[in-house]
Amino acid sequence: MLDANTEQEKITEFWKTKYETETQKNWDLFYKRNTVNFYKDRHYLDKEFQEIKYVPKDSKERKVFLEIGCGVGNALFPLLETNPNLYFYGIDFSHKQYDEAHVKTLQCDIVECKEMPVQKIDFAMMLFVLSSIHPTHYVNVLAKILKAMNDNSYLFIRDYGRYDMAQLRFNADSKLSDHFYVRNDGTRAYYFTIEEMKSFIDNSVQCINDEISKQSSSPKSSFVKIEFVENYYCKKIVQNRKTQVQMHRIWVQTKIKKTLVDQNPNNISQDS
Ligand SMILES: C[S@@+](CC[C@H](N)C(=O)[O-])C[C@H]1O[C@@H](n2cnc3c(N)ncnc32)[C@H](O)[C@@H]1O
Repeated sequence: MLDANTEQEKITEFWKTKYETETQKNWDLFYKRNTVNFYKDRHYLDKEFQEIKYVPKDSKERKVFLEIGCGVGNALFPLLETNPNLYFYGIDFSHKQYDEAHVKTLQCDIVECKEMPVQKIDFAMMLFVLSSIHPTHYVNVLAKILKAMNDNSYLFIRDYGRYDMAQLRFNADSKLSDHFYVRNDGTRAYYFTIEEMKSFIDNSVQCINDEISKQSSSPKSSFVKIEFVENYYCKKIVQNRKTQVQMHRIWVQTKIKKTLVDQNPNNISQDS
């Protein structure tokens, strides 16, 4: 397939470093320009992430939901309305902060932080966030999130898929590295295959388990096991109402379940 990815990137190392170091500034400017009006409220999430509909054991039980890279709350606030049993946290390095009865948002850079500022998470969600980060950080970021998740918890990811219409529109002047581009406003976007997404997650689990293996006094049931509940391309043709132009959108949708087990699953799969 012919696209900007087949061409040699033209962006110099100086600019690549500048986009990396100024990523927070560029998202701040993005939200300053677009305020809350850029992304539409995401009302499809209850249907896609049905695991969050749980029956609490008693009236006091409230499971923890964390959205990583929550922006201005286009996902968080619709979910808040339909899920009163959950306590919602949102983190992002660039946004207005809320602290209300059922929701608290925190400022955090998920690449730089040592550990997630919210722990004991039952449901975690990342929508179009990993793609805005440099691919060399994915394993580390995913490991921090998975570590902070409870036994029997779920992580839901939706992000840009390989050869999405927006990827095909970039030219070689916007290419930072394979399948990774910079937009005119300095924000960046990576376009995933489902195999890559699986491999980033598998590698992050391996890192966590290797670390636990090295600790001499690791508690029982502390190794991480994951199950891929979903990992597929979500494809949709969206028609622009004004121009009637059809846009072929491709997203990767991944849902994993984390459980805690006694034995290192990495060793089990190697032995068998
Ligand atoms: C494409 S927007 C998606 C926003 C929101 N998830 C949605 O779908 O409406 C990416 C978001 O990730 C945030 N983000 C990017 N890199 C981040 C980082 N290193 N730490 C925390 N947030 C980050 C940006 O500030 C931005 O709000």
